[in-house]
Amino acid sequence: MFIKLASSNMTTLIVGASGATGSLVVNQLLDKGVNVRVIVRSPDKIPDTWKNSDMVHIIYASISEIGADDMAKYVEDCDAVVSCLGHNLSFKGIYGKPRRLVTNVVRNLCEAIKKRKAISKPVKFVLMNTTGNRNKNLQEPISPAHKMAIALIRLLLPPHVDNEKAAEYLRVELGQNDRSIAWVAVRPDSLINASVVSAYEVHPSPTRNPIFDAGTTSRINVANFMAELLTRNELWEKWKGQMPVIYNKPDIDRNSALRK
Ligand SMILES: NC(=O)c1ccc[n+]([C@@H]2O[C@H](COP(=O)([O-])OP(=O)(O)OC[C@H]3O[C@@H](n4cnc5c(N)ncnc54)[C@H](OP(=O)(O)O)[C@@H]3O)[C@@H](O)[C@H]2O)c1
Repeated sequence: MFIKLASSNMTTLIVGASGATGSLVVNQLLDKGVNVRVIVRSPDKIPDTWKNSDMVHIIYASISEIGADDMAKYVEDCDAVVSCLGHNLSFKGIYGKPRRLVTNVVRNLCEAIKKRKAISKPVKFVLMNTTGNRNKNLQEPISPAHKMAIALIRLLLPPHVDNEKAAEYLRVELGQNDRSIAWVAVRPDSLINASVVSAYEVHPSPTRNPIFDAGTTSRINVANFMAELLTRNELWEKWKGQMPVIYNKPDIDRNSALRK
């Protein structure tokens, strides 16, 4: 039986909430009784359930065009911020402006949080990142072929560089001991859609090659992990300041059926 939790006092701001993963994060948090604030460009992609919910505060604005003063208002009283932003997969989205969409928004959000007067404990910041990005705090191995492929991707696909720089801002500029913000950069492998949460595994670093042997990660599993991170303290403590990699667990039943 599904039991919806009573509304908590927590408020989480989600950017990229109209996206395929961001919208699932909103739903997962609502199911856990967390109030959400979303910044979206258009009402068209917003379900009526959000519009009719008193747990959802919708702000219509283009996140990359929000000035410091408004951003400060939007992060005020938020316990957590999630970014599921990503460049739209169109020519304009990939090669047009803003080329540093994610990095600039992450930086602007964090600077707004840092300006807050009263922060009793660090605000939690969760960034949707990618296995294509390495955590340079760890000695993540990289083969010469992988290195060459990444160099090519950086050259041809500007959004990849944006993802790298966004995580770099958290890892290097905020680091591990920021007084205002604690962060986790979640790294899914190849994203797929699924209607329900399934078994998944989380590792500190990739266990397979993201280019030559990529695994899969359901967007709803990413959303579930993010919501769990924000609502389960021991999970947050385990992963804060890290870049966990999330994969779907192999479908054991289906695999064994295929072997028969
Ligand atoms: N594809 C993969 O296999 C893979 C694997 C690992 C990680 N990732 C990363 O995960 C990210 C999220 O994935 P997804 O599939 O959930 O993305 P998505 O559905 O494309 O969502 C992207 C979100 O970003 C917003 N956005 C895009 N351009 C914007 C702009 N110029 N200004 C304001 N908002 C903008 C979109 O808003 P609108 O709805 O208004 O356009 C949407 O809310 C990807 O972009 C990628 O960086 C992808």
